[in-house]
Amino acid sequence: MRSFIVTGSLLLGLLTAVHPSLAATCTISTYNVNDIKDAEKDCKEITLNGISVPAGETLNLNLNQGTKLTFQGTLTWGFYEWDGPLLNISGTDVEISGAMDHVLDVRGNLWWDGKGGNGGKIKPIFFVAHGLRNSVIRNITVKNPSNHAIWIENSDGVIARDIYVDSRAGDTLGGHNTDGINVWTSNNVTILRLTVYNQDDCVAIKSGTNIVIKDSYCSGGHGLSIGSVGGRDYNIVENVLITNSQILNSDNGVRIKTVYGATGSVTNVTYEDITLKEINNYGIIIHGDYGSHAGVPTGGVPIKEFTLKNVTGNVKESGVNIYVFVKNATDWNWTEVEVTGGKKIKECDGIPEDSGITCY
Ligand SMILES: *[C@@H]1O[C@H](CO)[C@@H](O)[C@H](O)[C@H]1NC(C)=O
Ligand SMILES: *[C@@H]1O[C@H](CO)[C@@H](O)[C@H](O)[C@H]1NC(C)=O
Ligand SMILES: *[C@@H]1O[C@H](CO)[C@@H](O)[C@H](O)[C@H]1NC(C)=O
Ligand SMILES: *[C@@H]1O[C@H](CO)[C@@H](O)[C@H](O)[C@H]1NC(C)=O
Ligand SMILES: *[C@@H]1O[C@H](CO)[C@@H](O)[C@H](O)[C@H]1NC(C)=O
Ligand SMILES: *[C@@H]1O[C@H](CO)[C@@H](O)[C@H](O)[C@H]1NC(C)=O
Ligand SMILES: *[C@@H]1O[C@H](CO)[C@@H](O)[C@H](O)[C@H]1NC(C)=O
Repeated sequence: MRSFIVTGSLLLGLLTAVHPSLAATCTISTYNVNDIKDAEKDCKEITLNGISVPAGETLNLNLNQGTKLTFQGTLTWGFYEWDGPLLNISGTDVEISGAMDHVLDVRGNLWWDGKGGNGGKIKPIFFVAHGLRNSVIRNITVKNPSNHAIWIENSDGVIARDIYVDSRAGDTLGGHNTDGINVWTSNNVTILRLTVYNQDDCVAIKSGTNIVIKDSYCSGGHGLSIGSVGGRDYNIVENVLITNSQILNSDNGVRIKTVYGATGSVTNVTYEDITLKEINNYGIIIHGDYGSHAGVPTGGVPIKEFTLKNVTGNVKESGVNIYVFVKNATDWNWTEVEVTGGKKIKECDGIPEDSGITCY
């Protein structure tokens, strides 16, 4: 053990000596907490190459300002029943990326049992981007997350682009609650070219302000969602634009869910240029009765300034095209909304006047 640590620091020392004026570029190919801590301290560029993180440990990277972190090869995590996260990164002005050949292979099938977060094995969250400031996450491939794939939380100024989450194996192996990206308590988050094949929300914005989602492709999951909103420490969603995205073979397309009896707000949300294909349950669903009291919407989390523009596509015959069930909603403006194919009708309630919405 001791000699291993010495070897690690020697390597870092050498690299620094070679480029005395530059910070070191460091590659770590075997998981060792001390090596990672040294690299955090001494290296401007860190490459994690094909490491296996032991069961029950978080790969923690609290990066110095301006660090570039690169994943290379196949990274794996050992099986252990716990909440995780398996990967936790924080920093300012950092860039987190994957090299061409990399994959973050969570091997969720080791945990999957069809129950997701509702019982059975305890399944770790995969990647928490916690407290990122002015940072970029790009070209990341996550395979078979055990639970939610990525959380962006307590962050301000994040561009997440070219992110690929592939949980297709979960369709037959019991994958559930494999959310693509969740956003919590963050400001100024832009998500570009996200591709998700999964069994839950493609994106779920739980809270946050000034969020843009553009050019995403969502297949097999529960759609592009706001919520659930309510019941947490911070329950405000404001200024969200979701645009030019496709949602296919998913349970829902466009969804906003606010929690029964909770307080908070959802203000200035726009979905524009959204294409739906083969949606199972609801093309568009906006409901204020989320949680155990399903059946009565409450108005403590009012949905205000809600725009849909050019949202088109089809729902399967057994599904519902549009369902709205809210209270206290104001200033909605839906135009060019054309969702067809669903034969089931659910009666809507709470649609603001003059908003151009018919349930059908
Ligand atoms: C994640 O990283 C942050 C910042 O370094 C730290 O405060 C937090 O404890 C870490 N979380 C876990 C579960 O390790
Ligand atoms: C938002 O975050 C991005 C990415 O970090 C940054 O480039 C941009 O300046 C931020 N914008 C504002 C208004 O803070
Ligand atoms: C990042 O992903 C984009 C889109 O998939 C691709 O065009 C680009 O070559 C990738 N960049 C790197 C450095 O892998
Ligand atoms: C509403 O949100 C959009 C998109 O995020 C933003 O550009 C716009 O400034 C916001 N409007 C107001 C009144 O804040
Ligand atoms: C509607 O959105 C789709 C993308 O989802 C786009 O291809 C199409 O051009 C848009 N139509 C209009 C009239 O803007
Ligand atoms: C409606 O929302 C407002 C805030 O916009 C809130 O003060 C009020 O209590 C809500 N009404 C109901 C019936 O929940
Ligand atoms: C609703 O949206 C349409 C299209 O963007 C716009 O022309 C119209 O002025 C809006 N109506 C209101 C009441 O804001």
